[in-house]
Amino acid sequence: MRKKIIAGNWKMNKTLPEIKKFMEELIQNYPEKSQIEAIVCAPFVYLAELVKLAEGTPIKIAAQTMNDQNSGAFTGEVSPVMLNDIGVTHVVIGHSERREYYNETDETVNKKVQAAFTHNLTPIICVGESLEQREANETLTHIESQIKLGLAHLTDEQIKETIIAYEPIWAIGTGKTATHDQANEVCGHIRSVVGELTNDSIKELITIQYGGSVNPSNIVELLQTEHIDGALVGGASLEADSFNQLIKAGVQL
Ligand code: 13P
Repeated sequence: MRKKIIAGNWKMNKTLPEIKKFMEELIQNYPEKSQIEAIVCAPFVYLAELVKLAEGTPIKIAAQTMNDQNSGAFTGEVSPVMLNDIGVTHVVIGHSERREYYNETDETVNKKVQAAFTHNLTPIICVGESLEQREANETLTHIESQIKLGLAHLTDEQIKETIIAYEPIWAIGTGKTATHDQANEVCGHIRSVVGELTNDSIKELITIQYGGSVNPSNIVELLQTEHIDGALVGGASLEADSFNQLIKAGVQL
């Protein structure tokens, strides 16, 4: 059975008192029997505190991006060595907002993914098409190219550990979720591309998340969809109560 993972991407939100309250509430009501693994993806400044707050719980902490270099003259950047040093276990790479506002490309994504593995961090690689690409029927070729370039130079073992998040750009923060048929088609295609790059057993094992307006009312249906193994969630991950409801959906699976 594939690992099911729900990651809450807080983006650039929250203050220190808010993260403390969130973790307290999340841990207090955390559904022990859920088969879902929960990850909180937070701004750099809160990561060390979150790692402490999550100690002894199944909750993992992720960064939302990183540099691909270990150290050096890169003012303002944070390296994989630093993330690993403070106990961060995962890192989101190539979110569409990073690609759009900070010039991240499939090539920079691939460098970061390789650097993540070098430092024991599990990458959550984001891919997704724009509305124009979907309307021009370019979704599958675009996603295939993002996957192939993003996973270049990795070993089969590394590809198996990678988490891929399919986030159609037109569904992010818009309240427009892809239908489960649309999401399943693309996630299934990602799975077959991974199969081409590796082999059939890795294709079956890799975790593929859906992201884009996921909330407590659509999570169960998404999780029951053949090729969807979890979610990358923005808005609905900001309150402990709704994040907990998403994780609780895993109890019923
Ligand atoms: P929303 O869940 O707010 O649509 O955001 C999705 C997202 O971008 C998660 O990375």
